[in-house]
Order: sequence, then C-alpha cells, then structure tokens
Amino acid sequence: MTSLVDGRSRISRATRGRVAWAVLPVAVVVGLAAADDRAPYGKESITRGRTVYLQNCQDCHGDDGTAKGSAIAVAPDLTDPSAWKFTKTDSDIFSNIKNGAGDNMPPFGPLGPGLKDSEIWDLVNYIRSLGPERLRPRP
Ligand code: HEC
Repeated sequence: MTSLVDGRSRISRATRGRVAWAVLPVAVVVGLAAADDRAPYGKESITRGRTVYLQNCQDCHGDDGTAKGSAIAVAPDLTDPSAWKFTKTDSDIFSNIKNGAGDNMPPFGPLGPGLKDSEIWDLVNYIRSLGPERLRPRP
C-alpha cells in the first residue's frame, strides 16, 4: 500500500518536472530577446524604474520594497534577495515581473497591464539598487 502511494507521487513529480523543462526554453528566449531593451544600470534608469515601481508595485511590496505592512502577507521583501524563492539572476527578476511568479505575483507584461520590456528592465535596475551592493550590475 505504501509503495503504491510512493509510486504515484513519483509520477506526479516527474510530470511536474517535464512541465518545468517545457517552459524553460520559452523563458530563456524571452529573456535573451528582451536584453536588448535594457538601459545601462545608472541613475536615469533607476529613477524611471522607481516611478514605474510606485505606480505598479508598492501596494504589495511596500513603497520602499520591504513589503512591511503589505496587505498581501506573502509578498517578499524586494530589498533582500536571500529571501527570494524564484529569482536569482537579473533575467529571473525580468521574467518574474513580465510573466508573474508563484501563485500571487501577477504578470505585468502582455498578460497584465502591458509594461514595455524597457520599463521592466528599469524595474530590474531599481530593484538591484535597493539590494546589496555586491549584486548590483556594473554601470
Ligand atoms: C498583488 C500584489 C503584488 C503586486 C502588485 C506585485 N507583486 Fe511582486 N510578488 C507578489 C507576491 C505575493 C509574490 C510572491 C509569490 C509567491 O511566493 O507565490 C511576489 C513576487 C515577486 C518577485 C519574485 C521574488 C522571489 O521570491 O523570487 C519579484 C521580483 C516581484 N514580485 C517584483 C514585483 C514588481 C517589480 C512589481 C511591480 C511591477 C510587483 N512585484 C507587483 C505580489 C505582488
């Protein structure tokens, strides 16, 4: 009996794995194609990113990115990359904003309010400016 249950959970894990691998190349292609729209890390891009952030993100992630006092309890602190679940690289930040993340992070690309790739890259630069200095892109 126990082994039957184990067997079933192995199959569902494998299926989940296949789905993840099927989505990955799409995410990679979107990430590569979009990289052309990235403005250099620096004051101008960060300022634009902050404006887009305050219009779209602060309700859940807080006006300073820390998500303190957020109505959405599971919204992560964007100033602390060590607490992130889905996001390591700059392209991860980009695709999680564009396409959404987890169960409760909505998409902001074409499936959402339609932020442009260049605006999403400004957001990436802004978020990096809030986080630890060692993870910031070179200007
Ligand atoms: C409706 C609330 C809401 C809004 C608005 C929102 N987020 Fe999120 N965001 C979340 C939640 C909740 C999660 C965590 C998802 C999960 O754990 O299932 C998340 C996750 C993320 C992550 C991934 C962090 C990780 O753990 O890897 C990033 C990056 C992010 N948000 C950036 C943004 C940016 C930038 C904006 C504005 C364009 C934004 N979010 C707007 C709720 C929101």
